[in-house]
Amino acid sequence: MDTTATFWMPPSASTTAGDVDSLFYFLLWVSVFFFALIVGLSILFITKWRRRKGDTGRLDTGPTKNTLLEVAWIVIPTIIVVIIFVWGFRGYMNLSVIPANAMEVKVTGQQWFWSFQYPEGASTVNELVVPVDTPVKLTLSSQDVIHAFYVPSFRIKRDVLPNRYQFAWFEATHTGEYDLFCAEYCGSKHSQMTGTVRVLSGADYKAWLEGAALAGEGMAPAEYGGRLYESKACVTCHSLDGTPGNGPSFLGVFGHEVTLEDGSTVIADENYIRESILNPKAKLVAGYQAVMPTYQGLLSDGEIDALVAFIKSVGGEGE
Ligand code: CUA
Repeated sequence: MDTTATFWMPPSASTTAGDVDSLFYFLLWVSVFFFALIVGLSILFITKWRRRKGDTGRLDTGPTKNTLLEVAWIVIPTIIVVIIFVWGFRGYMNLSVIPANAMEVKVTGQQWFWSFQYPEGASTVNELVVPVDTPVKLTLSSQDVIHAFYVPSFRIKRDVLPNRYQFAWFEATHTGEYDLFCAEYCGSKHSQMTGTVRVLSGADYKAWLEGAALAGEGMAPAEYGGRLYESKACVTCHSLDGTPGNGPSFLGVFGHEVTLEDGSTVIADENYIRESILNPKAKLVAGYQAVMPTYQGLLSDGEIDALVAFIKSVGGEGE
């Protein structure tokens, strides 16, 4: 299979992509053929039998019946539609029936990022890392509104709903990085709810898993926190330069008093930050909406420590 993009399609990099593409091209060219046939004949007939100068105004009566023609335009389209149905149904079953030996990744969509949890315990945000030539089962759910998990190069798209699980699967055929989109309008930052699927060789994937288990080791906590600030998508809403986003900027917040929604104040200390990460709606800063999702279960204690250290380091000791 070829991974290069065509005029019509992005690169194809999964086992099911080839079938999806062939059916797409079949539909496309059947449509082009009949469009050309119908429009072409219309133009021909309009020109050939148009009213000419000197015509008396009486229409000739033509043939009223042609059995062969009528049978043809019933039988041929029926055959084409049945071909499309069988082809499409087989493709649908291929996409729906998940191979029993698939490795499982839990995918969570929330405003406005994706998070992934791997069987071995690792977790990532906005980046799905998988081994090549291995079926991967995705168990999808949403923390809030409806999102849609869409990887064009794998030709898979699945709605991601709150309160129930959805499933999808793919088997990547080539290593590399592929775009991941949210394909369901889910709020003001929908268009930024993007990510990457990184397909690694089996050995690289194993090494990555081992590295993920050791993440942050040998790094200063604030430095590791800075990494997490990007990789866990805090950066989407919290600036470091004082600009307010969907959430307050981290600049100079640590150790200072913040005014809450109800007019009371708290000091932004370690415990306030920890609480705001795990239960963001508990003490909402005045002027902001309760849009931040909980990171409960997405961050380990060590990662929260690192984020606290990072926030502390961002101009915490006065400007
Ligand atoms: Cu999530 Cu659009």
